[in-house]
Amino acid sequence: MQTGVLGCVKPVLRSLEAMDARTLGVSKIEVSALGLGCWAIGGPVSGEDGKPIGFGNVDDAESLRAIRAGIDAGITFFDTADIYGTGASERLLGKALGSDRGNVVLATKFGFTFVDGERRNTGSNGSADYVREACEASLGRLGTDHIDLLQLHIGDLSTGESDAVAEVLEALVDAGTIGAYGWSTDDPSRAEHWAKRGTCSVIQHTENVFQDAPAIIAVCERYGLASINRSPLAAGFLTGKYVPGTRVGANDWRVAQRDWSEFFDANGEPEPEWLARLSAIREILTSDGRTPAQGAIAWLWGRSPTTVPIPGFKTAAQAEENAGALAHGPLTAAQLEEIAALLG
Ligand SMILES: NC(=O)c1ccc[n+]([C@@H]2O[C@H](COP(=O)([O-])OP(=O)(O)OC[C@H]3O[C@@H](n4cnc5c(N)ncnc54)[C@H](OP(=O)(O)O)[C@@H]3O)[C@@H](O)[C@H]2O)c1
Repeated sequence: MQTGVLGCVKPVLRSLEAMDARTLGVSKIEVSALGLGCWAIGGPVSGEDGKPIGFGNVDDAESLRAIRAGIDAGITFFDTADIYGTGASERLLGKALGSDRGNVVLATKFGFTFVDGERRNTGSNGSADYVREACEASLGRLGTDHIDLLQLHIGDLSTGESDAVAEVLEALVDAGTIGAYGWSTDDPSRAEHWAKRGTCSVIQHTENVFQDAPAIIAVCERYGLASINRSPLAAGFLTGKYVPGTRVGANDWRVAQRDWSEFFDANGEPEPEWLARLSAIREILTSDGRTPAQGAIAWLWGRSPTTVPIPGFKTAAQAEENAGALAHGPLTAAQLEEIAALLG
């Protein structure tokens, strides 16, 4: 069962028999096999084009309850970014953790620019000079003296620019300001470029049962990095709660940013062809009493020993349901094969 650097959380994790902890690559930092993603709880933000890049309105009191519920359920890994809520998500997370700060692994990201609290993305900054500035600002908002995992958020930064960024990140690790670093990118060649440095601990990338990224998983496995899985529920679609006639809320990127995701139509309703695919694999996802969301998480654990899904959440009930996946563990290799065959 879960042991390691987070020895102080053992009592909480003792009841979770099905899943082992996972390790953040070369840093050897140990985390619960499931993390929680804190994009949605940042609340509304508009992009450079003025369109929403958040999940719409949220209730901060409920978000605080949800983080607490996650900790109580054995989650020791939380992923946020400075841009989420233009600082709001980091502040909320810092506030929610309070005296539990030492019992959890905190991950954040930098690279997208904003005026704190103005809820608008003003651009991006991939320069080496900006890394320390962004890190200092995140430390202040999180209310901590170190960040366990700091990730570059600009997925398409050139490898040349990324080298200079990585050098600053390595210096921050050496100084103990951060425990580990990684890159949030969907590009396997960029992932490998950093993996080859030997000091990068994680690649965060889109990975779910509908959107497999075998080339990035292969890089993580080959170089011993953790594969941090964003959008593990396909932006909520895999929970099965979106059925014809239901739609995502207003002010939500799932409607506004049509080129980011193909699961919802221009009205925010679920796309029929994806509903058909979910229906085809639903029985396997819900095996052994799992909910569809728990099955989607179980698929990720079955996919590779390097994966750490970080589902987002808006309510304590969602965080609890997602954490409940830990008790079931991964789907089997045979179930993954069956799903692959069904999805073609
Ligand atoms: N570029 C990047 O680095 C990047 C990009 C994307 C995500 N991320 C990270 O990855 C995390 C996860 O990705 P994500 O939040 O985009 O997508 P996700 O985890 O696939 O979906 C999260 C959304 O699904 C719904 N949901 C979650 N659990 C549920 C449950 N049990 N029952 C019903 N609905 C549920 C919630 O929204 P509704 O209730 O509104 O449906 C929630 O906001 C983010 O929070 C963030 O930390 C990083």
